[in-house]
Amino acid sequence: MRKQIVAGNWKMNNDLKQTQTLISELKNQVQTSMAEVMIAPTFTNLVGACDALQNSEIEVIAQNMHFAENGAYTGEVSATMLKSIGVNTVILGHSERRAYFNENDELLAKKVDAALAKNMRIIFCFGEELQDRNSGHHEAVVERQIKKALFHLSGEAWGSIVLAYEPVWAIGTGETASPDQAQDMHAFIRKTLAEEHGQDLANNVSILYGGSVKPANANEIFSKADVDGGLIGGAALNAEHFFDIVNAF
Ligand code: 13P
Repeated sequence: MRKQIVAGNWKMNNDLKQTQTLISELKNQVQTSMAEVMIAPTFTNLVGACDALQNSEIEVIAQNMHFAENGAYTGEVSATMLKSIGVNTVILGHSERRAYFNENDELLAKKVDAALAKNMRIIFCFGEELQDRNSGHHEAVVERQIKKALFHLSGEAWGSIVLAYEPVWAIGTGETASPDQAQDMHAFIRKTLAEEHGQDLANNVSILYGGSVKPANANEIFSKADVDGGLIGGAALNAEHFFDIVNAF
């Protein structure tokens, strides 16, 4: 059975003190939820977040990692390093990494393999730009992104993959994909997966939606059959808003 997940991607926000404050606010809000709850603070705050959230329902995850295990890669962090502090899940392929740090499908496939080799779970992000949607190419773009980075994986490896559809035009813009647009794309992704790996596997992969999810729209988006949760940016920086979204299930 696929899982319902709400993950907060903090991006490059919150210094040490702000991280501590937000985490203690989150701890006050947490209740038993139907969904798995995750937060992704910056690298500098991962150790502290893991300590503060030990024995909590909130999992601490990373926003990125390098494909190599160690070596001359100034400024980078490896899967082994993340695992050594208790981080077992990593976001890969975020559109901001693709756009500002030139991460392409080939590089992402290497990162995916490296994370899986260390038994990490991956939240793999992808999504079309506005021009792709306006020209009717959104499905083709998404199909290419997931095929190139993920379709070499075995059926077993898919147990460690969570997909996150984040249309670039909806990220941080306040413009959300409509619940129907999200559902249509998620159903397309599941169909594409089923064609490659069978319906059973496709039914077991969680597909999250990301892009301007807020307390006011979360319930309608999450109520769609193929939407298994959300990857939340801006609204995850406020404990009350984040848990309103978690509780939208
Ligand atoms: P917003 O929720 O701020 O649009 O960001 C979404 C996102 O990029 C999550 O990874």
